[in-house]
Amino acid sequence: MKKIWIIANWKSNKNITEALTWISEVGPHLRPREDIQIVVCPGFTELEEVHKSVLTGNFPIMVGSQDLSPFPPGAYTGEESAQELVGLVQLAILGHSERRLNFAETDEMIAQKVKQADKAGITPLVCVQSTQTPVPDGCRLVAFEPIEAIGSGQPDTPKDAEEVATSLKERYGPDLTVLYGGSVESRNVGSFIKQPDISGVLIGGASLDAREFVKIVKIVYED
Ligand code: PGA
Repeated sequence: MKKIWIIANWKSNKNITEALTWISEVGPHLRPREDIQIVVCPGFTELEEVHKSVLTGNFPIMVGSQDLSPFPPGAYTGEESAQELVGLVQLAILGHSERRLNFAETDEMIAQKVKQADKAGITPLVCVQSTQTPVPDGCRLVAFEPIEAIGSGQPDTPKDAEEVATSLKERYGPDLTVLYGGSVESRNVGSFIKQPDISGVLIGGASLDAREFVKIVKIVYED
């Protein structure tokens, strides 16, 4: 049976109070399932409090970051190195198209970030925008996120997403786990996770609302 990942990417939203409210509203609805991995990725400033509240509530939620530095620890003002994140996160979203576009991230920088994450024991989740986006060595978890589908309310078709997932697995090996992201919400999540080569979803906008996120999780539980 494939494991399904449900990953909330809050982007630059939610302060500490809002983050903790979300955890307290979502956490009690979750139950530990070996076949489902729920991950929440807050901003750096909320990571510690979110991490603590997940531990205190004993909720089956993994905490992830939305980025990390391509450099090792050292003189890199403003950067969060993978080593600083050890103990706070188990996963890092890397190479999101918003970072490639707004912060000039290149495939080379993303490959460096994957190396740093791997060294620190943090699972890198690389966002790929098409079959042409390279998957760096050491990365076994990717999210296919077509740019037009992000935040637009216009998701890709499950058929097209499945074709991309299949071709990524053909190219990088059957053990590559491929997720889909881009306007995923409760009314379409079922159609994506049903696809044989899609192992979960990366959710932006719809993950911000605790009730909608719980609805999504329940649909996956019942699938
Ligand atoms: P969206 O964002 O769900 O708001 O489309 C997804 C993402 O950017 O990861």
